[in-house]
Amino acid sequence: MAARRKRAAKTHAGGAKAPASKRGGNKERIIEALNTVLELELAGVVRYLHYSLMVFGHARIPIVKWMRDEATQSADHAAQAGEHVTALGGHPSLKIGKLLETHKHDISQILLEALEHEREGVAQYKKLLSLVQGKDVCLEEYARSLIHEETMHISEIEKMLRRPGDLEPAL
Ligand SMILES: [Fe+2]
Ligand SMILES: [Fe+2]
Repeated sequence: MAARRKRAAKTHAGGAKAPASKRGGNKERIIEALNTVLELELAGVVRYLHYSLMVFGHARIPIVKWMRDEATQSADHAAQAGEHVTALGGHPSLKIGKLLETHKHDISQILLEALEHEREGVAQYKKLLSLVQGKDVCLEEYARSLIHEETMHISEIEKMLRRPGDLEPAL
C-alpha cells in the first residue's frame, strides 16, 4: 500500500500521470453513461406522449393519464441525469434515444414497447451503478433509487399485460 502510494507520488511528480480522481479515474465513462440515460429518458418523453395520443376505447381516460404522467416523469429523470452530467463538468447530450414507430397501436402492443423501453432504462442505470459502486456515494444512491423506480414501472406494465385473475407474471 505504502509502496503503491510512493509510486503514485513519483509518477505525479514526474508529470507523466495525473493522480487518479476520487471516482477512480473513470469520470468520462460515468458522464457517457449519464448521457445515455439522458437520451433514453428524453426518448421516453416522446414515446409516452405519442402513445397517450394513440389510445382509444373504453379505458382511454385513465390510460392516457398514466402515460402523460410517465412522460412527465421521464422529463424529470432526463433533467436529473443532465444535472449530474454538468455537476461532473460534462456537456449534456442533445441527442435522443431510439424511437420506433411500429404503427401498431393496440394497447397491448404499446405496453410491450413501453416494457422494452423501461427494461433498457434499468439496464442503463445498472451500468451506471457498476461504474460508481463503492466510489461515489451520491451517484450510487442516485443509480440505486432509479433502478428501484424503473423496476417498479416494469412490474406495473407487466401487471397491466396480465389477464385479469392471473397471478403469474405475464412476461
Ligand atoms: Fe425514467
Ligand atoms: Fe420509467
